[in-house]
Amino acid sequence: MIILAIETSCDETACAIVENGVKLLAQSLASSAEIHQKFGGVVPEVAARKQVEFIVPVIHECLEKFAQSPNKIDAIAVTVGPGLVGSLVVGIEAAKALAIAWDKPLIPVNHLVGHIYGNFLGDSGSNIPQINFPAVVLIVSGGHTDLISMRGHADFKYLGGTLDDAAGEAFDKTARLLGISKYFGGALLAKKASDFSGKINPIYKLPRPMVYENNFDFSFSGLKTAVKNLFEKTQTNVDAVEQISKEFQDAVVDVLVKKTIKACLHTGAKNLLLGGGVSANTALREKMFVEGNKLGIKVLAPPISLCNDNAIYIASAAFFNQKFVNVSEFKNVVANPSMGIMD
Ligand code: KG4
Ligand code: ZN
Repeated sequence: MIILAIETSCDETACAIVENGVKLLAQSLASSAEIHQKFGGVVPEVAARKQVEFIVPVIHECLEKFAQSPNKIDAIAVTVGPGLVGSLVVGIEAAKALAIAWDKPLIPVNHLVGHIYGNFLGDSGSNIPQINFPAVVLIVSGGHTDLISMRGHADFKYLGGTLDDAAGEAFDKTARLLGISKYFGGALLAKKASDFSGKINPIYKLPRPMVYENNFDFSFSGLKTAVKNLFEKTQTNVDAVEQISKEFQDAVVDVLVKKTIKACLHTGAKNLLLGGGVSANTALREKMFVEGNKLGIKVLAPPISLCNDNAIYIASAAFFNQKFVNVSEFKNVVANPSMGIMD
């Protein structure tokens, strides 16, 4: 089955054509990130306007790369939430238009489920990983930190998540506090952390919020405040930015790993899957691999290129979950900005 997928939940406009959920045939992506950079965060109205501008050229380019008749496409998949409403509706209406023009069914996809399927694709159709259920999934992105028990395709149980800031949001806000970057500074903060190879001075010690609480929830906003107070006192010290970056990253990684491993033990998970932009973080990947392997749990993380938002994993999620909607029901396919994993 060949699926054309569209993803427009935030500031990326993406289209991909994927066969049987694992083989990438064509893709195209545009981003308005550069424009938002100067505002220090995504401006929803600007993101939506850019989606309108990019959507047709992106789909057109993807179809050109596909270089086969649209008749070969079996269904159109589209992200319906969570995300920015103005951005989501652009992708949804484009998907409906294609589905009507080509007389194909629509497959609505939850963006969070999409992140999980970054693990199922392998390397352009080769080295496709074998994934066994039950699995535990940790989704860590700019907007979400969710721990999920995955008992099969389309069979998810929410175990817990952040009570305040998402992990990516905490990375971004901390990068801003430390003067590293004003916008999506997670990867740059990780780079600063890796620039420091020595032993962290105990004066930079940060808390591990909720790490020993008997639940699967997280809280990162206190950590950010702790960084703010610490940096005010130490910013003139040599290496303060590097040491605080490393200690902050260690604190987030410690909490994420401990609670995820606890969730694996609680659910008898065979596999542990990471997903979302923060799953590109090397320290998180490495520690999760080590701790999972100690318990004989296979740990998987998407290739770095599939950690950030794209349409490839939306096509994969659509294939494995296959909720077809025919044209008479298109009116029910609408944007759901606050969609959770169970919706
Ligand atoms: O999943 P994503 O592309 O977009 C959302 O759906 O939110 O995630 C973006 C988030 C941002 O907060 C970004 O700073 C963070 O992922 N991120 C990282 C790294 N690369 C991206 N955080 C920590 N370390 C990284 N290497
Ligand atoms: Zn995302």
